Amino acid sequence: MRRGILLFLCMLVLGRTSVIHYKCEFTHALNEKLLYDNRLTYMGDYFPKDYKIIVRYEEVLRCQNITSLRNQGTTVEELRSLWSIINEGILMKIIEVLPEKHPSFGYIKELLKIFTQLLPDNLKIQTEIIEDIMERLRKPDETGPGKAVRPKALLDNCFRVLYALYEEECNLCNPRSEAEDDTLCPSATIPPIIDYKNSSYER
Ligand SMILES: *[C@@H]1O[C@H](CO)[C@@H](O)[C@H](O)[C@H]1NC(C)=O
Ligand SMILES: *[C@@H]1O[C@H](CO)[C@@H](O)[C@H](O)[C@H]1NC(C)=O
Repeated sequence: MRRGILLFLCMLVLGRTSVIHYKCEFTHALNEKLLYDNRLTYMGDYFPKDYKIIVRYEEVLRCQNITSLRNQGTTVEELRSLWSIINEGILMKIIEVLPEKHPSFGYIKELLKIFTQLLPDNLKIQTEIIEDIMERLRKPDETGPGKAVRPKALLDNCFRVLYALYEEECNLCNPRSEAEDDTLCPSATIPPIIDYKNSSYER
């Protein structure tokens, strides 16, 4: 009941935004798909309890990474590109292990479709550290060590970083943001994102 009201309030906030960055359309779609209940059902309940997926270390992109990369002078555009490339890769890995009849198959497929729209059209790399990470990501999987991560944890990170990178610009709204078991990145640790002033964004 209470969540229904919160969702409704989220919609009101959305309605007030007249002209938004064109990518916001996709971040809103993503936000909706990645809300807690969906993540829990499709990425938790529908997988065996201790199921883990092997990803590379570079594919783990958490709040702390964003903070540290920001402090090292990376641009928001670079981080958004990195986040979309990494998560598209992760989703590909998840879908590879799922038989088509698995109840999460369609869910991951839809997420992948949205990510295709969020991938950078032309990747502008401006800092060496991002260049290094991209370089490592381009290498085939077997060349690096892996890390076993639960599928839900991967999408939890995806969701949190979505907020860290787009919440302000796209007016994202998470009706559960107060819930202890679904925390977002601590906003105080995310330096303000200001370099969207020159994009097509207006309020
Ligand atoms: C994020 O941080 C972890 C732990 O420090 C590290 O292993 C990982 O490579 C980092 N991810 C990226 C994309 O830099
Ligand atoms: C906007 O772009 C102009 C020219 O490209 C630049 O001089 C200015 O610093 C930019 N402003 C912001 C807020 O990024």
